[in-house]
Amino acid sequence: MSDEKRDDVLLKVDHLSMYFGRGAFQKKAVNDVSFEVRKGEVFGLVGESGCGKTTTGRTIIKLYDATSGSVYFDGKRIVAGIGSYKDEIKELRKKKRELKNGNDGKAAEMIAECDKRIAELNEEIRKAKYDHKHCDDVFRAEEKKRITEEYEAKIAETEDPKKAAELKREMSRELRIAAHKKLVTQIQMIYQDPVASLDPRMTVREIISEGLIIQGIRDKKYLQDQVYEMLDTVGLVHEHADRYPHEFSGGQRQRIGIARSVVMKPKLIIADEPISALDVSIRAQVINLLNELRETMGMTILFIAHDLSVVKYFSDRIGVMYFGNLVEMTDSDELFRHPLHPYTRSLLSAIPLPDPDTEKNRVRIRYNPLLDHEKTDEEPELREVCPGHFVRCTLKEFEAYKKQVME
Ligand SMILES: Nc1ncnc2c1ncn2[C@@H]1O[C@H](COP(=O)(O)OP(=O)(O)OP(=O)(O)O)[C@@H](O)[C@H]1O
Ligand SMILES: [Mg+2]
Repeated sequence: MSDEKRDDVLLKVDHLSMYFGRGAFQKKAVNDVSFEVRKGEVFGLVGESGCGKTTTGRTIIKLYDATSGSVYFDGKRIVAGIGSYKDEIKELRKKKRELKNGNDGKAAEMIAECDKRIAELNEEIRKAKYDHKHCDDVFRAEEKKRITEEYEAKIAETEDPKKAAELKREMSRELRIAAHKKLVTQIQMIYQDPVASLDPRMTVREIISEGLIIQGIRDKKYLQDQVYEMLDTVGLVHEHADRYPHEFSGGQRQRIGIARSVVMKPKLIIADEPISALDVSIRAQVINLLNELRETMGMTILFIAHDLSVVKYFSDRIGVMYFGNLVEMTDSDELFRHPLHPYTRSLLSAIPLPDPDTEKNRVRIRYNPLLDHEKTDEEPELREVCPGHFVRCTLKEFEAYKKQVME
């Protein structure tokens, strides 16, 4: 199993692409996107509607089969796209056929090279398929070890036989759950639309406990305790447990959505525009709640939003997306101080200012890829302009940005 572990990195998205459709109708919703989310941080992913933010989130949690690239979670590869390998093999086979039919003197040598590359690619496909299948087994084995060690230490400490028996029962329950757990349940998503994402026929209790029941938990008392604990955590009351989603306000529904995710004790939450559908007055409450969860439960958050003003105060680092590409990524402060990519500048210019005088003079910059970049055949790449500050640019732009940052 390929292991890509750096201690402080929880999620590593590595050259991830997700294309919908084929041929002329192909839509490159996510195109060669790479970023890392470190443990305990809030990473903001920002970009206009349709730029591929939700698709990135959904590909990470394996709702789509990635076209190419990988996603590593806690050091294990959970997503391994093989579409690009298959395409390359197809191309190589075509080249081989052409070589066989032609009369190139070096044909035999080149065919051997193609065969070598095909074998390499097939090996990559095999590894990807293996990781895809086995990351859960490795995760379960780790969980089993962790739970056993944790409880055995607790049992050894206690002198009360009753307490020890209770701990043993708890341990066997945890082990039973761990045996069916999937690694991807450690990543939970909070959705944009709190109305559409909650089943109207289910009570709040059923909604919150559903994930646990799927994991095989049947203990009614335990489920009830968990539901009540989550309602407390998100600022709702126990009486709400037996009501239906339509009986709640938008903000309360989003809290139910958060409770449903948090009950799974995830390490990472992907919050996909969790406040866009909410009234301005309650947006701050939901942001505060997410902040609290991050502090009390040590959660890491990938926060998706379409405008920078929302993520400004909440994110440690920000990635800006434009039409499927990540165009700039750096610390939150640095992004606001030294925005380099013209698209980031245009997003910044769209933020209304609180002071009426300066707001009157605010000039909205529009981004036009044809005018804002010099015409060239060179494919731009994500380059590190200064430590930790990445911009998608050509080599010439790269030099210019470097100068700009030095000034
Ligand atoms: N299942 C699908 N099949 C085909 N195309 C899709 C599919 N899902 C998304 N797309 C396309 O991929 C692109 C990116 O969509 P996505 O939903 O990821 O954008 P987004 O950044 O989340 O936008 P928004 O801010 O509106 O939520 C869009 O052009 C969309 O039309
Ligand atoms: Mg979206």
